[in-house]
Amino acid sequence: MGKLIIGNWKMHGASRDLAEADAVAADLARRPSSARVAICPSFVLLHRLAERMAGTAVAVGAQDVHANDQGAHTGDVSAAMLHDAGASLAIIGHSERRSDHFETCDQVAAKVRAALAADLEPIVCLGETLQERREGLALEVVLRQARDSLPDALAGKDFAVAYEPIWAIGAGVTPSLGEIAEIHAALAQALRQRFPNTRPAPILYGGSVKPANARDILALAEVGGALVGAASLKASDFLAIIRAADAAVAR
Ligand code: PGA
Repeated sequence: MGKLIIGNWKMHGASRDLAEADAVAADLARRPSSARVAICPSFVLLHRLAERMAGTAVAVGAQDVHANDQGAHTGDVSAAMLHDAGASLAIIGHSERRSDHFETCDQVAAKVRAALAADLEPIVCLGETLQERREGLALEVVLRQARDSLPDALAGKDFAVAYEPIWAIGAGVTPSLGEIAEIHAALAQALRQRFPNTRPAPILYGGSVKPANARDILALAEVGGALVGAASLKASDFLAIIRAADAAVAR
C-alpha cells in the first residue's frame, strides 16, 4: 500500500516558496508516486497553495485547527475555514503546539472532533520526551497520549497518527529502526482494539526524516508514511523522500 508523506512547513515559507510546492507537483505529474502527498504551510499561504495545487497530486493541509467552528477567538482559525480555504487534512496536537501553547490531550481530541466535523482528515501527533525515553516510559507515554488524544468520533473515519519522538524533531537524530517499529506496532495494535471496524489508520513516523534515512524508515512494514519538517521545505529533498517511499513499497 502507498505511504502517506506529509510536509510540515511549520513557521517557514513565504510567497516565493510556493515554487517549491509547484516543483513537487510537477515532478509527480511527470512520474506519479505510489505515495499520497500533502504539504501543510502556514495559515497565510494555505489558500494560495491550495489554488496552485488544485488538480495536482499534492493535497494541502493545515498545521492546527481551533476546536470551535466560529466565534470570538482572536487570532484563531477554524477547521471549517480551513476546509473552505482548500485544506483537506490537518495536523493536530503537534508537540510544538503542545509545548508552545500548552495543548492538552483533551484539547487535541476536541480539535480532532472539529476537524472531522469540517471534513478534514486529522493527522494526530504523539511522542515522548528524551527524559521519558531514557526512563523507559516511551511506549507507555505514547499509548496514553493515543488513548486521550484520539476521540471515539474517529471510528469509521479516515485519519492518521504520527509518532514523533520530541527529542528527534529538528535534531538530526532518530530512534533506531527497532525502536520505531516497536512503537508503531504497539500503536497499530491499540488502534485495532479501539477502532475495530475502521480502516487501519496509517501510522507515520516524524522527527528528522531526510533523504538519507527515509528509505530504511519507510521500509518498516509498521510505518505508514512520514511527517517531514525541515526536509519538506526544499522540493529536491521532499521529492527524494517521496521516491524513497516508492522504493520502500516496491521492494
Ligand atoms: P523535522 O520535523 O523533520 O524537522 O524533524 C518533523 C515535525 O516536527 O513534524
